[in-house]
Amino acid sequence: MRLVECAKSYIKSSVSNGSLCIDLTCGNGQDTLFLSKLVKKEGKVYAFDIQQQAVQFTRNLLREHKYISQVEIFQQCHSSFTEHLPQELKYKISAVMVNLGYLPKGNHLITTNPRTTCAALVKAYEWLSVNGVISVITYQGHEGGIEENTAVKNLISQYHWDCKTEFGNKKQDSPILYMIRKK
Ligand SMILES: C[S@@+](CC[C@H](N)C(=O)[O-])C[C@H]1O[C@@H](n2cnc3c(N)ncnc32)[C@H](O)[C@@H]1O
Repeated sequence: MRLVECAKSYIKSSVSNGSLCIDLTCGNGQDTLFLSKLVKKEGKVYAFDIQQQAVQFTRNLLREHKYISQVEIFQQCHSSFTEHLPQELKYKISAVMVNLGYLPKGNHLITTNPRTTCAALVKAYEWLSVNGVISVITYQGHEGGIEENTAVKNLISQYHWDCKTEFGNKKQDSPILYMIRKK
């Protein structure tokens, strides 16, 4: 199974009709669309990306599929997500998806970075409900990707998060999926 599919199947275990979810890197909008289909009209998906192009791609995709009403999209760094969401959502988030790296159809020089990624992950874990989950996919092939993966791995071990790991292939620079569950 591809890592993206594996992440989705893990996320599905904690998300249902009415859930609240966050996509911390909405990019082309595929993960936001996936989440919005799971939460249905009663739930909400909050999507973040620093690039206007990504926000536009996501908005267009969600409109096209008629899921836009249950999604809020922010052109903001994910490390600041707590400043943009209602504080009463703290401890109520069922799932957070984080697909790191660059926007496939965009500028490949604009990538996520260890500092804001780790800051966002610590806050995301805090905002999860008990049994809530985070999926993080790291890509090591781009500039800074190895450092970012190391930072994510170290963060998970520093906080002793319950985490399962999957590798995309057997190569040294394989993408890696981290599946974290809040106890
Ligand atoms: C691999 S893409 C995400 C793919 C997306 N989840 C999808 O389903 O199409 C990574 C995205 O992270 C975004 N990004 C980079 N730094 C960011 C930051 N600090 N905060 C939020 N998004 C960021 C990029 O602009 C890019 O669109």
